Amino acid sequence: MSSRENIAQNTPTLRRLTLRDLQRKRTAGEKIAMLTAYDAITAAVLDRSGIDLILVGDSLGNVVLGFENTIPVTMDDMVRHTAAVVRGTRQAVVILDLPFGTTTDPETALRHAVRAFQETGCQAVKLEGDERVATIVRKLTDNGIPVMAHIGLTPQSVHQLGGYYRHGKTSPEIERLKRSALALQDAGAFALVLECVVDQLASEITELLSIPTIGIGSGSGCAGQVLVINDLIGLSVQPQPSFARRRADVAGIIENCAREFIADVKHPPALAGTLQLDAERTTGAMP
Ligand code: KIV
Repeated sequence: MSSRENIAQNTPTLRRLTLRDLQRKRTAGEKIAMLTAYDAITAAVLDRSGIDLILVGDSLGNVVLGFENTIPVTMDDMVRHTAAVVRGTRQAVVILDLPFGTTTDPETALRHAVRAFQETGCQAVKLEGDERVATIVRKLTDNGIPVMAHIGLTPQSVHQLGGYYRHGKTSPEIERLKRSALALQDAGAFALVLECVVDQLASEITELLSIPTIGIGSGSGCAGQVLVINDLIGLSVQPQPSFARRRADVAGIIENCAREFIADVKHPPALAGTLQLDAERTTGAMP
């Protein structure tokens, strides 16, 4: 298989979702589902599940690369992982999260977004920031690059924000979030992530906009929901965010498999030839 061939090619041929499809879902009131992925295999499995959007989030920093926050994640990291996710998918829209320091001004952001498109094959980028980044969103959308905006808790600004907490509790904050949502929509964003925004305010912003809002820790009133895949499947050694409903314990499964393997290696099964017999069974060599 050449490096440009897609590992998802054995799955039935289905066309990739477009942003027009997404807007149709929003208009029809169909909820939109987004999960993160960082590698080709997970992406292929999610793609098979029928997920609408796959975000290669800069949460890569915390959940894959072992950093404390998203700030050390580089554009090289994002390009490498997003290209893998694109190779794993056929249906879902793949979005590259522009990392810290790549959206400091419109020209810088355009340069990085062009790189994202040319080197990964993604269909959109996401960037964090309130109304102050509307000119950056406009620059990208004017150049044919679809942008998902992201307000509320914006982890790249964790030091400026002073931690991770719920947004939209005070009147000035409520006004700023509403103004930002409208400014980002006017600048051409095709969707807006609302992270840890007070539920009632997230519903109001959803009503205010014609583009879909995608909520995380912001209640059920958004047009769609996103979760970090590791929080969904329990692949973590950190505590879960309180809003994430864990549906499996993949970390536990891995640990148990490893423990069983270690035990087999260190204390081989008593019956001589057991491993040989197992191998014959799996290769069909037994009658
Ligand atoms: O980086 C990320 O995974 C995100 C989502 C939580 C929205 O930004």
